[in-house]
Amino acid sequence: MQFDVLTHPTPTSEQRRAEILADPGFGVNFTDHTAVIDWTAQNGWQNARVEPYGPISLDPAAAVLHYAQEIFEGMKAYRHSDGGVYTFRPFANAARMNKSAVRMALPELDEKVFVQALEELLAQDKEWVPTGEGEALYLRPFMFATEAFLGVRAAKEVTFRVIASPAGNYFGGELKPVRIWVSRDFARAAPGGTGDAKTGGNYAASLLPQQQAAQKGCDQVLFLDPLHDNAIEELGGMNVFLVTSDNRLLTPALTGTILEGITRDSVIQLAKDRGMQVEERRITLDEWDRGVTDGTITEVFACGTAAVITPIGELIDGEKTIASTGTGEVTQAIRDELLGIQLGTVEDRHGWMHKLA
Ligand code: PLP
Ligand code: COI
Repeated sequence: MQFDVLTHPTPTSEQRRAEILADPGFGVNFTDHTAVIDWTAQNGWQNARVEPYGPISLDPAAAVLHYAQEIFEGMKAYRHSDGGVYTFRPFANAARMNKSAVRMALPELDEKVFVQALEELLAQDKEWVPTGEGEALYLRPFMFATEAFLGVRAAKEVTFRVIASPAGNYFGGELKPVRIWVSRDFARAAPGGTGDAKTGGNYAASLLPQQQAAQKGCDQVLFLDPLHDNAIEELGGMNVFLVTSDNRLLTPALTGTILEGITRDSVIQLAKDRGMQVEERRITLDEWDRGVTDGTITEVFACGTAAVITPIGELIDGEKTIASTGTGEVTQAIRDELLGIQLGTVEDRHGWMHKLA
């Protein structure tokens, strides 16, 4: 696809960019450009362009504002020692976005064009990749219904965009074990729902339980299977793994109610490479609790693009606390290997990295 390029007339100064990159935070600063492709039911994808980052104009009746017809992806770009900027498994994100698109009645986008949009954006904004410990340029592709129409049906006008944001640790500060709140009052997803689509509504529904978690001093929420109330599903924005004392790695199976994490899939591969036995299955909160108590579960961690791999320190279930070990050896080893591949310091034996710029 041909992208028109309209460069920013007044880009961020080098000095201001250096200040931002020195302490990027998460999701608060954005690069100078955005990649955009429009879609209409009549003409398909068209008008591909890179334009200055800035507010967008939407009709107040735009369907996304009323019926939440929206999907997104989350990825990261890393600067390697050869000066190139690389991203991790972008075709997996492209495929997942298309799966989300089907569920939310949005148009699919050619996976090559999805990746091209990232490349076109990075061609302008490659100086924005931070290189500090645990830092990367967070890439946020998203698609939403722009058609001004209040009838409830799939919109006939849609826009795809990519924005980019220099990012440090999602949880702020240094890597440390997080505290997780078990949501007993609210479910995230149910069979037949949208749990395995990366759509904004899932995150909107997680905000109230997330507020409850924050009141209890917790960083994230653990959602349970609403039909069998003690099977663990995932966190608001991360998948969960448990490590056993006999070298097994346990994670909830993909049943349609959890997001099919690309980090999750990669961790499973790296664990198998290390000779671990991986079990994707139903895991109850009781199994977690008993295992930590009797020493058969030695480590627990969360993983996702934003969170990378973050150890879970404590799980708070009402009045009860299930503690785990903090940053264990297996968590640390898998984290180091995954980050090494992403940063280009460990051999990319699965061909996961893709050069963007
Ligand atoms: N689960 C949810 C609900 C998420 O939002 C994310 C983040 O994208 C993940 C899991 C992890 O997915 P990935 O590893 O592809 O970033
Ligand atoms: C990600 O890890 O990329 C996510 O999308 C999780 C969260 C920031 C929504």
